[in-house]
Amino acid sequence: MSATPECRICGGALHEFFDFGRQPLADAFVDPEGGTEEFFHRLAVAMCDACTMVQLLEDVPRERMFRTDYPYLSSGSTVMQEHFRATARHFLDTELRGPDAFLVEFGSNDGIMLDTVHRAGRRHLGVEPCAGVAEAAAAKGIRVRNAFFEESTAAEIAAAEGPAQVVYAANTFSHISYVDSVFRGVDALLAPEGVFVFEDPYLADIFERTSFDQIYDEHFYFFTVRSVQAMAAHYGFELVDVEHLDVHGGEIRYTVARRGARTPTPAVGLFLEREKAARITERDTLERFGAAVDKVRDDLRAVLERCRAEGATVAAYGATAKSATLTNYCGIGPELVAYIADSTPAKQGRLSPGSHIPVRSPEEFAAAYPDYAVLFAWNHAEEIMAKEEGFRRAGGRWIVYVPEVRIV
Ligand code: SAH
Ligand code: TYD
Ligand code: ZN
Repeated sequence: MSATPECRICGGALHEFFDFGRQPLADAFVDPEGGTEEFFHRLAVAMCDACTMVQLLEDVPRERMFRTDYPYLSSGSTVMQEHFRATARHFLDTELRGPDAFLVEFGSNDGIMLDTVHRAGRRHLGVEPCAGVAEAAAAKGIRVRNAFFEESTAAEIAAAEGPAQVVYAANTFSHISYVDSVFRGVDALLAPEGVFVFEDPYLADIFERTSFDQIYDEHFYFFTVRSVQAMAAHYGFELVDVEHLDVHGGEIRYTVARRGARTPTPAVGLFLEREKAARITERDTLERFGAAVDKVRDDLRAVLERCRAEGATVAAYGATAKSATLTNYCGIGPELVAYIADSTPAKQGRLSPGSHIPVRSPEEFAAAYPDYAVLFAWNHAEEIMAKEEGFRRAGGRWIVYVPEVRIV
């Protein structure tokens, strides 16, 4: 018998609510020539009875996930480029107005956000453990430190460069199980009146859209306003503002400050009320989510089996990390989806983790359209459907599965 698992933040008892079983690393694309064996781990999610933080039950060692050859490139989406340009401009117009102001971003990837700060000539530093994407940012003239952000890294930065007015992270803080070290790092680095701002997928949107493919090894925590407020308070900080974002299927941008340094905006209370009304942390909601996941799996499998029976050709679009959970949990392999089209050079020519579906270029997709394409990158639906309008003109149909399985 193993001990009752405990919340990584407050030590409260964890209530497991969904188990995806054995899953591969979502960004570990496989060399078709063979070689290294794939790493699998148990993917299960739980909610803390005390602070309500939703989290994975097991964490994968960070060096296994965030490697030199990490394939994800943030700048692959023009919608995301615009989103991060606007984010940077917002900081330049508010927190970074002082001539010496300093912004640190962890998880800066290929520099999609810092590029604008750098071009504006402002002091900045990216902290990014994956050497490949860090080099892509450095090649644009952006200052990057190739390291994991944690207490020691932050303290070294503070000693060398002084306090930061902004510490920022997009789609990164929720990837980090060791939040205690991150908060101590923020404490060491943040100016007295500075802000720690992070944006990550919103649990309420995941439940509402049954977007269960957001759950994979790299996504360790699933935040709500309530759980982030409790987490910030636990580490001596205060949640002072929240803003809902439409990117990546629904996210929240949280602004955290030192306790008492800023007055919380009405948005914080408003979101807390909404979350309570939506019952997102109640047991019945967690159970309904589980049932909805299995309905999506069954419906999608039924559609794909029917396509196969009819002799229709089926591909997918977007070799997302998310699609690792989708394909492996639903049992979808190359017999149901012939290949995945994706613009990322490091993914092309490889096989999807666990499910071993070949990844090909969008040019190959356009050269001979399939009858159907499953939109794995559903969070980029508008951008991809506009870019690939030739597919629909040629008679192709999209299969989507968020919020439910539909042919469009
Ligand atoms: N901010 C970008 C990238 C998100 S992908 C965007 O929103 O598109 C997550 C990134 O976080 C990866 O590049 C990964 O290498 C990085 N990362 C993971 N753990 C980290 C840590 N402890 N410190 C800094 N970056 C980290
Ligand atoms: P994304 O959904 O952003 O993230 P994750 O991997 O964390 O689930 O991944 C989008 C994938 O889709 C990425 O591999 C790039 C690819 N893509 C295209 O091939 N064409 C496009 O136009 C866009 C926007 C993305
Ligand atoms: Zn807890």
